[in-house]
Amino acid sequence: MTIPTTMKAAIVTAYGGAQMVEIQSRPVPAPREDEILIKTIVTTVNSGDARMRALDAPAGMKTLMRLAIGITRPRQPIFGTEIAGTVVAIGPKVARFAIGDDVIAFPGTGLRCHAEYVAVSERKPIVKKPQNLSFEEAAGLCFGGTTALHFLRKADLKPGEHILVIGASGAVGSAMAQLASHFGASVTAVTSAANADLALSLGADTVIDYATTDYTAVSSVYDVIADTVGAFDFQRCLKALKPGGRYLGIAGGIGDMLARPKDGKRPIAGMAAERPEDVAFLADLAAKGEYRALVDQVFSFADIARAHARVDSKRKRGSVVVRVAE
Ligand SMILES: NC(=O)c1ccc[n+]([C@@H]2O[C@H](COP(=O)([O-])OP(=O)(O)OC[C@H]3O[C@@H](n4cnc5c(N)ncnc54)[C@H](OP(=O)(O)O)[C@@H]3O)[C@@H](O)[C@H]2O)c1
Repeated sequence: MTIPTTMKAAIVTAYGGAQMVEIQSRPVPAPREDEILIKTIVTTVNSGDARMRALDAPAGMKTLMRLAIGITRPRQPIFGTEIAGTVVAIGPKVARFAIGDDVIAFPGTGLRCHAEYVAVSERKPIVKKPQNLSFEEAAGLCFGGTTALHFLRKADLKPGEHILVIGASGAVGSAMAQLASHFGASVTAVTSAANADLALSLGADTVIDYATTDYTAVSSVYDVIADTVGAFDFQRCLKALKPGGRYLGIAGGIGDMLARPKDGKRPIAGMAAERPEDVAFLADLAAKGEYRALVDQVFSFADIARAHARVDSKRKRGSVVVRVAE
């Protein structure tokens, strides 16, 4: 296959709304010695991309966010953390992949996935795509799944424990509900009424409608509360946690990061790790049909700004997917 010298990439020209994203031409990256060059078939626009584009940081973290990603505009203007595609070139030291392999790659905070070609070190989280997954299903495997795995590991969730998953229809929450159930926990999902059946299909034992029920107004019910929405905080969830309980402030701001353990209960917050073994674990589970990354809507690459707008709605179910290859 001939690799062109230029490619289309979605460029975030400045912080702001979805209209800040436009397709421009950029050079195709040349793979370094430990890198594979992937032709992108499908990518996602996720909540991380939308937050960065809008400079929409969790409470108290806007300055930190600017320092991390660019003071006046994004330092890396090509967003996108995950792709499914085909290897079209490899560096001389690459051992794990060959030209022609279909792969799922998660450069994560390294970004650059909203482009027709992406060069990624083979040491990053990359796996061969399970054959039973479409490229659309494969592209959304990593962002929500690795975040859920990270926080479940930090919480040390045990079989038989009771977990409340707030926002069980989102990318992280739908992964959290499935994985917690897979690990043998009893799962109560918090969703809107419209997403109740979806949560049950993901393995939730019970569903609570957030519009009609104050689910924190209970005493000592949950071992773990996974808040993927930022609906509450550690303090507000203390009463609902059992002794030894853990609150996962996945969407949380500086308050959850600085919160101290209280009454034998503890808050867990911060950035999720991006580990190759977590992506391998998720791909293996998906290959066995025991885990699925939900696809919300599929957009064309030319429509990627509309994909950003869909994420901004905060109503998506699972991942918003963008088909890059024609
Ligand atoms: N700490 C980390 O390293 C890390 C990593 C990844 C993501 N995150 C953060 O985690 C959060 C979730 O990300 P995501 O990609 O999963 O979000 P998402 O997919 O955009 O979440 C959308 C879902 O949230 C549901 N929702 C909205 N308000 C709700 C409420 N009050 N109660 C229950 N459900 C509600 C919506 O369902 P309805 O339409 O039914 O309301 C929708 O299905 C984001 O804030 C993101 O920045 C953090």
